[in-house]
Amino acid sequence: MNVDKVYIDAPVDSSLNLQEEIKRLKKEKNAVILAHYYQKGEIQDLADYIGDSLALAQIAQKIEAPIIVLCGVGFMGETAKILCPDKKVLIPDMNAGCSLADSCQADEFEKFIKENPGHTVISYVNTSAEVKALTDVVVTSTNARQIVESFPEDEKIIFGPDRNLGNYINSITGRNMKLWNGACHVHEQFSVEKIIELKKQYPEAKVLAHPECKDVIVRLADKVGSTAALLNYAVNSKFKEFIVATESGIIHEMTKKCPNKKFIPAPPEDGTCACNECNFMRLNTLEKLYNCLKYELPEVNVDKNIAEKAVKPIQRMLEISAKLGL
Ligand code: 13P
Ligand code: SF4
Repeated sequence: MNVDKVYIDAPVDSSLNLQEEIKRLKKEKNAVILAHYYQKGEIQDLADYIGDSLALAQIAQKIEAPIIVLCGVGFMGETAKILCPDKKVLIPDMNAGCSLADSCQADEFEKFIKENPGHTVISYVNTSAEVKALTDVVVTSTNARQIVESFPEDEKIIFGPDRNLGNYINSITGRNMKLWNGACHVHEQFSVEKIIELKKQYPEAKVLAHPECKDVIVRLADKVGSTAALLNYAVNSKFKEFIVATESGIIHEMTKKCPNKKFIPAPPEDGTCACNECNFMRLNTLEKLYNCLKYELPEVNVDKNIAEKAVKPIQRMLEISAKLGL
């Protein structure tokens, strides 16, 4: 990823009302703010659109404004830039990476593909543009099942980089995809013992889990799905209590949509840390968002040759999703 500057750390006048200033700059510059559900609540509240990874890509593609501020992590900014090459795509803090995307380096993934000739390559959206450029079709946790099932049953498939999502899709589709051995440091650390303990305390609570969690967590969950799917489930459920095994930022929107329901963050194995918060997602702050709009930096740039290759599997995902009504 090419960036002009990692982030603009210019001092911000503490007397400013940052919310009002961000709204003013957004209007003045004709910019649109997109935020992922894992962002700090105050950033989600300022966004024009919030969503999961699929929704953010779908929205980015339709935006007419010249500037997109992507409050999320690097691969989300890259995806928006690849889909909208003529727009200025900004990220408040370009240090916002992703441990899952980092667990799959393009040169090693290319070697893996060469070692397994004749396979269709399906990559999770949590990957670098370079990995997407090696891919036949991109998926998100919203559409992974349907996209895998759109291939014939005997199709030989490589799936990367998340081994937990890959295992989950293999288990529900009966496929035997070859999996890259990657994982997300946030979703890997939920404690099954502590969730079981919580279930004793809240016997009526339903367990909601993202498919990036380990299979022991996914197997005990009442609902497995993307952030948007978990949110929809909570909104439409007649139940009132939920144990949430994904990044705890999603609880902000869950609580806004369901003020009378209780959302309990699933505890991590190490009870002393806030490990159910993604340290990358949380790098974006109101101050950095303000500076980002003010200076129009840092800007996401993707190498033209890579972008030309990476756009094809992303577009293919969006086309299949549109056909499936996702
Ligand atoms: P969603 O596609 O469910 O928003 O997930 C994104 C992500 O980074 C999960 O860790
Ligand atoms: Fe990446 Fe995990 Fe953070 Fe999602 S929660 S952005 S997969 S590190």
